[in-house]
Amino acid sequence: MANSLFQKHIISIPELTRSELELIVETAGKLKAEPNPQLLKNKVVACCFFEPSTRTRLSFETAIQRLGGTVIGFDNGGNTSLANKGETLADSVQVISSYVDAFVIRHPQEGSARLASEFSHGVPVVNGGDGANQHPTQTLLDLFSIFETQGRLDNLNIAFVGDLKYGRTVHSLAQALSKFNNINFFFIAPEILAMPDYICEELNQAGINYSLHATMEEVIPKLDILYMTRVQKERLDESEYVHIKAAYVLTASMLADAPNNLKVLHPLPRIDEITVDVDKTKHAYYFQQAENGVYAREALLALVLNEQL
Ligand code: CP
Repeated sequence: MANSLFQKHIISIPELTRSELELIVETAGKLKAEPNPQLLKNKVVACCFFEPSTRTRLSFETAIQRLGGTVIGFDNGGNTSLANKGETLADSVQVISSYVDAFVIRHPQEGSARLASEFSHGVPVVNGGDGANQHPTQTLLDLFSIFETQGRLDNLNIAFVGDLKYGRTVHSLAQALSKFNNINFFFIAPEILAMPDYICEELNQAGINYSLHATMEEVIPKLDILYMTRVQKERLDESEYVHIKAAYVLTASMLADAPNNLKVLHPLPRIDEITVDVDKTKHAYYFQQAENGVYAREALLALVLNEQL
C-alpha cells in the first residue's frame, strides 16, 4: 500500500495527520540506526534558499546525499534571474521543478512555499521556512528529538520561551503537538512577543491546555521539554531588546530543580538566551536536535519520493 506522504507537498503542519507525523518519526529512527544509501538513488532534489540558513539547508543537502540522491540549488536568490531580471517566483518554480524530483524552498515571504506548490511542475514542494509563518521540517526534527528523549509524543509538559510571535518553529510545533493527547503548554514571552491569537484559538478549539507565565523558574520543575527561542533583535527597538533579552536567559543554575528527564531544545542559532554552562548539563539537547535534522529530513524525503520503503 502506498504511504500517504508519497508525492505530497509539505507546506504546513496542519496538513499532516498524526499518523503521518508518527511515520516520519519512526522512519527517522530507523534511518539513524541503519543508513540506506539507495532510497534517493537517481533522484535530483532542488534546495532553493532565498533566505540565510545553516542547519536547514546543510542538513537537507546531507540527507539527500546520504540517501544516494543529487542536489541542485542555491543558498541565496541574489544570483538568480528572479533577482536580476525580474522573473517571478511562480515562473522560477515552474522551470526549476521541471528539472528535479522534489523542490525544497526557504523564502522570507509568508505563503511563498504554498505558491511554489501551486506552480511546481508535478513534483512535491517542501517548505524549508516561509517568513514568520511555518517551518514544518524543523517541527519534524523537534518531534523526533522529543520522542528520542522522552519515549513518547503524548503526555508532555512543554514550555515555549522567548519570541513566540515571530518564531515560526513554535507555531509549527504547537500545531503538531496539539494532534497528540494530554499536552500541556506553558508560554513564557513578553507581551509584545506573545503567541499569536490564531494559534491560541486553534489550541482552544482542540481543547489543549496552555498557560502564560512570567518566569521560567516557576515552571521548570514540571517540565519534560523546555523549548528556548531567540528574541529577534531586528523586531524590537534597542532599549526594548536589552530589557527583554535579559529576562529570557537560561543558565545552568536555573535547572537545579529540573526533573531528570527534562531536555532543553532550541532550533538554533542561539545568541545569548542559553548560557554556555547549560551545554554541559544532562538537560542540554539542542546540538543533538540539530543533528537529528539530517535523519528527520532523510525520513521525509524518503517517504515523499518512494511509494513504499
Ligand atoms: N533552525 C533553523 O532553521 O536554522 P537555520 O536558519 O540555520 O536553517
